[in-house]
Amino acid sequence: MTLAGKVAVITGGTSGIGLATAEALSARGVKLVLHGRRREVLEQHAARLPDCAVLAGDVTDHDTPNRLIALAMERFGRMDIAYANAGLIHAAPVESIDLDALSEMIRVNVDAAFRFAYTTAKHFKAAGSGHLLMTGSVFGTKVRPNAGGYAATKYAVEALCEALRMELAGSGVRVSVVEPGLVRTDLHRDHAVRPEVVQNIPQPLLPEDVARAVVFAVEQPAHVLVPRIMVLPSVQPV
Ligand SMILES: NC(=O)c1ccc[n+]([C@@H]2O[C@H](COP(=O)([O-])OP(=O)(O)OC[C@H]3O[C@@H](n4cnc5c(N)ncnc54)[C@H](OP(=O)(O)O)[C@@H]3O)[C@@H](O)[C@H]2O)c1
Repeated sequence: MTLAGKVAVITGGTSGIGLATAEALSARGVKLVLHGRRREVLEQHAARLPDCAVLAGDVTDHDTPNRLIALAMERFGRMDIAYANAGLIHAAPVESIDLDALSEMIRVNVDAAFRFAYTTAKHFKAAGSGHLLMTGSVFGTKVRPNAGGYAATKYAVEALCEALRMELAGSGVRVSVVEPGLVRTDLHRDHAVRPEVVQNIPQPLLPEDVARAVVFAVEQPAHVLVPRIMVLPSVQPV
């Protein structure tokens, strides 16, 4: 299926997986609406990528999903792909877990992602077509010590995607969850020890590796659904 002329709304579009996906879609002629907090970074992307509108703000603001849809409709007259990708990680042992950071992670990874998913799914259902994607994680299928809260947010994403897939089957709306293993991005910027060292993964994925998987899912013809797509560094023992 040709993607040229389609419109994608992506949260967490300033960096990492969201940005790499935006670039890969843009190279195939997709028009973009990107969201993130860093306004200057978004403006740089908008200046560089053709047909790219941006909205800066906190994804936990309740009006964000509707504002993003409105921007897509105003600038491009349609929305075909909605990607709930913004996220963060707070992982720590029992003695040092920061409960405020944990709550913030739950607000971004679950509350905001769910609001975005339901709002865009409603729009797609009314339109009779569209593709909703959410970034889960390999930690949405297994847990590890010290990261129970993060894994729980990604298990929640898995559960929502599965239910929405069933609910929307036959409606023309497709739902996919993207499950990366370790990716070299800014996600772990606050970690004292790099996760590739902790997990003994000398060569993590690059954001572009995940973006290729997203493109594979969205460019399938309308009768084909890729419900979940796990992408791992080849040495990650999952
Ligand atoms: N890196 C990995 O190993 C890995 C593995 C599996 C899954 N993931 C998932 O992949 C997704 C993207 O992360 P990434 O690895 O690409 O890291 P990243 O480069 O840090 O990207 C995170 C994105 O989320 C946005 N974001 C975070 N909090 C936000 C908030 N409150 N409001 C608005 N935007 C917010 C950031 O934008 P601003 O900073 O501009 O606000 C940024 O664009 C996340 O859901 C993450 O859980 C990552």
